[in-house]
Amino acid sequence: MVDKNLGDKGDKRGITRRRFTLGVIIASIVGAFGSLLSLLKILAPAKEGGGYVSTIKPGDQLIYAQGANMGADIKVSALNAGESVLVYPAGKTSNPANIVQLIKLDEGAYKAPTDIKLTDQGLIAYSAICTHLGCTVSWVEKKKSPDTSYTECFCHNSIFDPTRGAKVLAGPAPIPLAQIGIKVKDNGTLVFTSDFKGPIGPQV
Ligand code: FES
Repeated sequence: MVDKNLGDKGDKRGITRRRFTLGVIIASIVGAFGSLLSLLKILAPAKEGGGYVSTIKPGDQLIYAQGANMGADIKVSALNAGESVLVYPAGKTSNPANIVQLIKLDEGAYKAPTDIKLTDQGLIAYSAICTHLGCTVSWVEKKKSPDTSYTECFCHNSIFDPTRGAKVLAGPAPIPLAQIGIKVKDNGTLVFTSDFKGPIGPQV
């Protein structure tokens, strides 16, 4: 004979177990989603107000964005032709839209549509946020012929020509990286002289 009370308890235990299992599955999915969001946040800088909004102003000092010298002023003497560093405006490093790639090439290497007025002593600066999906770009240095060095975004292999206004040479990026003005001060450190001369961040 079936014990009716035992049957009810068994059903309740089964329901409780199923609810617990379902709870564990949902918690795992939420956890995995959170990790994915964190990863995407690293690859793609955060947006402000629905777009990538720089807060760089003329006069802002250029500082190293990473490495052993992170936070220190950059000096013109720090870069040789063919070299590049990522920089931020001093005091404004919490806005990822402000990240900039500072490049040094031979002064004669630049051609249209580069805005030569925004360069100084062979130094040029562009937004470091890829115009495809917003990854931070990298520098590919060619030691034997420094002026053929270039900028590449390794997320989907977009290539930009720093000597021609960061024109897109390959890959899915739809527009060049926006140039921004810089100049060398009397003490050899650098300041920005303008805002970006075009849109920054993903354009797709
Ligand atoms: S995010 Fe740079 S190529 Fe896709």
